[in-house]
Amino acid sequence: MPNSKIAGIGYFVPERVVTNDELTQYMDTTDEWIQERTGIKERRFADKHKESTTSMAVKAAEIAIKRAGIEKEDIDFIIFATLSPDYFFPGCGVLLQRELGISKTEIGALDIRNQCSGFIYGLSVADQFIKTGMYKNILLVGSEKHSMGLDFTTDGRGVAVIFGDGAGAVVLQPTEEENKGVLTTKLHSDGTKAEELALISPGAHGGYFHDDKAAFGFNEKDETFGGIFVTDEIVKNKWHTPYMNGQAVFKKAVQKFPEVILEALNEVGLKSTDINLLVPHQANLRISQFVQRMAGLTDDQVYNNIQKYGNTTAASIPIALCEAWENGKVKDDDLIVLAAFGSGFTWGSALIRW
Ligand code: UT7
Repeated sequence: MPNSKIAGIGYFVPERVVTNDELTQYMDTTDEWIQERTGIKERRFADKHKESTTSMAVKAAEIAIKRAGIEKEDIDFIIFATLSPDYFFPGCGVLLQRELGISKTEIGALDIRNQCSGFIYGLSVADQFIKTGMYKNILLVGSEKHSMGLDFTTDGRGVAVIFGDGAGAVVLQPTEEENKGVLTTKLHSDGTKAEELALISPGAHGGYFHDDKAAFGFNEKDETFGGIFVTDEIVKNKWHTPYMNGQAVFKKAVQKFPEVILEALNEVGLKSTDINLLVPHQANLRISQFVQRMAGLTDDQVYNNIQKYGNTTAASIPIALCEAWENGKVKDDDLIVLAAFGSGFTWGSALIRW
């Protein structure tokens, strides 16, 4: 059975740099607070009118395809991970196919909704397809345009200062070389904490009934059919923008990152001392540093770029991996570890022998 290898990798971030200082114009925050709590100095925001989640994905994908030495038409499956799709439906996978100009090939396109761990989930799915021989050139993309969906008032500062826009892409191909490529992937979730990091409304059914809480924004007296609506209550409570219980997410993240990395290493009989480079999802520099300490890794063995791009959710791992590769930090035969934790909660890891 073949393994899957990353044959080509690319990323794209918008030109527009938004510094912490610029955000202080819109909300009560400071450069000092943001840097101290998250490590972020600046992030990129897409051009509101000219750049979309799909258009950024196209740019990253074109680089990855070129580096894989194939033509767009050779792609036989698309996997697209995002939490900020251009449309509620259809997903960005088919839009990417169209914008790449390969609709005639009629290949399958799958959208993944696993937020920060979307890229790892996508990698795991792609890996299974390649192992079974079903596909030979899978395009896997993570892309986010967060800047359209955040609350840039002081109410939303706990979330808005963290996120940035961008896209990363890889082309996965089979390799017959032993002990090369994706060695294993591990996926987990715990839905009991779904609302700790979520965008609740508006949804197609107008809110979700959870515990003994009333539906978010749903008026019990309303007996009409149909659910797509925006009520005063939704707007007042800002349920149309993301909510995050930062401390709860942080606590779970620092527990689950090391756990899922160790789980993957144990499965293939490796130890943390075998790691050449850890590329963690860029959620918070303090989380990455905690994981680094737990794994006993040096600064050189962990790649972080959250300082420049903020948290780009599904795009953060492929952007960081690509940048690390471009900077010569990913070499032949290196053991690369990818790990992510985020909304859902969902988390996962992947080991790659480059
Ligand atoms: O990628 C998806 C997964 N997400 C994560 O992994 C994020 C995990 N969580 C975190 O990274 C951190 O919890 C945050 C960076 C989101 C927040 O840092 P924190 O140290 O947990 O701060 P906090 O939420 O406990 O807030 C501390 C204080 C509060 O004020 P009071 O109540 O102490 O007066 C907040 O209102 O900081 C205030 N605050 C801010 N102040 C200035 C919250 N956001 C800001 C802000 N600027 N942007």
